[in-house]
Amino acid sequence: MPTLTDCRDDFPILQRSMDHGTQLAFLDNAASTQRPVSVIKSITECYETYYANVHRGIHTLSEESTERYEHSRASVANFINAKHDHEVIYTAGATSAINTVAHSWGRQNIGSGDTILLTIAEHHANIVPWQQLATEKGCRIEYLPLQDDLQIETAAVSAALEKWQPKLFAFTAASNVLGTVSPVAQWTALAHQHGSTVLVDAAQAAPHQPLDVQAWDADFIVFSGHKVCGPTGIGVLYGREQLLEAMPPFLGGGGMINRVTTEGFTSAALPDKFEAGTPPIAEAIALEAAVQYISEIGLTEIEQHEQKIARHAETGLRQIEGVRVISPPSGEKTGIVSFVLSHAHSHDVAHSLSERGIAVRAGHHCTMPLHRALGITATTRASFYFYNTREEADRLIQAVDDIQKKFKPTGRRRRRSSGDRS
Ligand SMILES: Cc1ncc(COP(=O)(O)O)c(C=O)c1O
Repeated sequence: MPTLTDCRDDFPILQRSMDHGTQLAFLDNAASTQRPVSVIKSITECYETYYANVHRGIHTLSEESTERYEHSRASVANFINAKHDHEVIYTAGATSAINTVAHSWGRQNIGSGDTILLTIAEHHANIVPWQQLATEKGCRIEYLPLQDDLQIETAAVSAALEKWQPKLFAFTAASNVLGTVSPVAQWTALAHQHGSTVLVDAAQAAPHQPLDVQAWDADFIVFSGHKVCGPTGIGVLYGREQLLEAMPPFLGGGGMINRVTTEGFTSAALPDKFEAGTPPIAEAIALEAAVQYISEIGLTEIEQHEQKIARHAETGLRQIEGVRVISPPSGEKTGIVSFVLSHAHSHDVAHSLSERGIAVRAGHHCTMPLHRALGITATTRASFYFYNTREEADRLIQAVDDIQKKFKPTGRRRRRSSGDRS
């Protein structure tokens, strides 16, 4: 069984040396995590020993592949505590899952004059599909703003639900920039009291905390495989059975039908109805290996470990003159620490960190409306996962301190402040 103490040995990529002989400190986990050997092996094993298309053949390999593919679904359903396996729909990722809901449930249930409520902290994946729907249907989108302390109080959620009576309330369980965690069950219960359907973007929550869809009670929950140590090209749309049953299929083609005539078609039962075409077979199977791996490490342990090192990094960064951490000073947070330097653009910071072997992300992180609301166009984001160490957090703090000093204008050479240049 892998443990927090020895898990780094399971990730070959973490042993890599970078330029100038520095060791890789991978602090870009909010963008995508790394994969342990068990996940990599699961993919090779699939292609080397039993790969064939699923749900179609009656030969041995197809039967084996189908059995493994459906076994994965059952494990993922168990991982998120879904009531039924068929409430887990495999998609290409969180983005694809939200688009499926927008195109299927949205087109069927949202009309002109209706309101969709979002928060200003949403990833573009949880904004643009609703904007596309709004253009098509003539509905409106309202955004819950951040307060001065960068939080969204439940009282504000309640007031917005009361005011807008939205058909849909779609919000992130954890912000990919601020690191803040939403009280999902509480907001969902409030939304349901107002008759709203709830979609929760769990892309930044599923990797870091135990996920219990029944306790959250949301109608739709999405996340991506590549952020939970799984492969790219696979993600999960969890939907409440009743809703999924009532929704029309989004993509049409093979696999999602019961019968096709020249006149029309009837849909297959769940979950096939929403999995048109050849699905990501090896990816789904390796996703099972990924959720098994992180479950063995322990989601509660992961959460606690990240808390320790991310808050250590945050405290250290806050102490550097000219560094502004873009996050509430307190409250529940994930392993994300975003910041700006007074005299260096985030791209310059990320580049300088990369020269020291430290991988972070710079830019707007697909949250342009959030950055605009914050009055900045870019941040540098360090995002920690369970395999990161306190020593890596110290390296980050030291490197940012050096970079801040390097970019700080001297008396003779004045540079324009570029902390919020795009
Ligand atoms: C909060 C959030 N939602 C959605 C997404 C989209 O995920 P994907 O690109 O895997 O579809 C991301 C990716 O960074 C994210 O952080």
